[in-house]
Amino acid sequence: MSVTAKAVTKKALPPKVERLIDDILDKNPLHQKIVTVSLANMTDQEIQNLETYLNFSEEQGQSIEYLADCYLMMVMDVLREQLYFQKHKKYRYSSLDEVAGSVYHDPEYMTQYMYGIAISCFMWPNHLEMLRFFKQTVPTDKKGQYLEVGPGHGLYFMSAMEKTDFDKFNGIDISETSIGITKKIVEYFQPEQKANYALELKDFLNADQLKSNSYDAVVTGEVLEHVEEPELFLRRIADIAKPDAYIYVTTCCNAAVIDHIYLFRTIKEVEDMMDECGLKVVKPLYLPYEGKTVEECLKDQLPISVAYVLQKKV
Ligand SMILES: C[S@@+](CC[C@H](N)C(=O)[O-])C[C@H]1O[C@@H](n2cnc3c(N)ncnc32)[C@H](O)[C@@H]1O
Repeated sequence: MSVTAKAVTKKALPPKVERLIDDILDKNPLHQKIVTVSLANMTDQEIQNLETYLNFSEEQGQSIEYLADCYLMMVMDVLREQLYFQKHKKYRYSSLDEVAGSVYHDPEYMTQYMYGIAISCFMWPNHLEMLRFFKQTVPTDKKGQYLEVGPGHGLYFMSAMEKTDFDKFNGIDISETSIGITKKIVEYFQPEQKANYALELKDFLNADQLKSNSYDAVVTGEVLEHVEEPELFLRRIADIAKPDAYIYVTTCCNAAVIDHIYLFRTIKEVEDMMDECGLKVVKPLYLPYEGKTVEECLKDQLPISVAYVLQKKV
């Protein structure tokens, strides 16, 4: 008998969260430490949010066992790519062509990958902290146009629709699967806002309809490391944002995943690029690998997640 959810936390877990954790531990007992740390870090409300998400997923026909599989597939992919990175000191791939077909345009893989990341946004301390940072900093009284590039699983997009007062929520993603998943979550949790959002299947860099100085918020989480030339991305963000726009960007250093094709090795590299592209850091958040300091991560080339509230330089 493998370890169960009850053995790794004293918290009372709602039934679906308990089933998810039991299934994860049953399929991968080595995951016990991560699950223990994750549950200890989650507030009761955040655990309840995960239960609500699992209810939604089940109603969409995705079983809890399937979500546990998605999560564990993503974990195994990350481990494999991290081992490659430690050995070769670079990510496996560096061009979009190498990964687009097998990731973004493979519906089965992309669905598993996005649901896996969604579960990690509820559980992994660094992903959860970035979502908290977004919820704490996104302005709740601003009007106008909200744009999200690469909504993926849709959790940020849905949170923005729930928490803020923007007039229109626009999302652009290169993957049809991500667009579909984001649409489902929005329609389920924000059915009354049907007329207030638009999702478009496009590469951000080819989205000609985005005009200079026209967005009141530009949000892009975990996308910069997925593109060949992130500086083009950042310049475009600076161009389309209004001077007082809320700009939220996350990325990572030394964090290998199958479709991470641009390697930032240091925080300074990220911030220098932002500065050169016309964006000023207003509020940074640095999240080193669990149990390590930022300095240790930089020295040993371990993963660091970074999130920023930025401002357009005028
Ligand atoms: C790792 S997911 C990030 C999901 C979510 N934003 C988050 O922070 O967890 C990356 C998403 O960006 C999309 N993406 C990658 N390159 C893109 C591009 N050039 N234009 C628009 N979307 C892109 C992918 O299809 C995927 O849905």
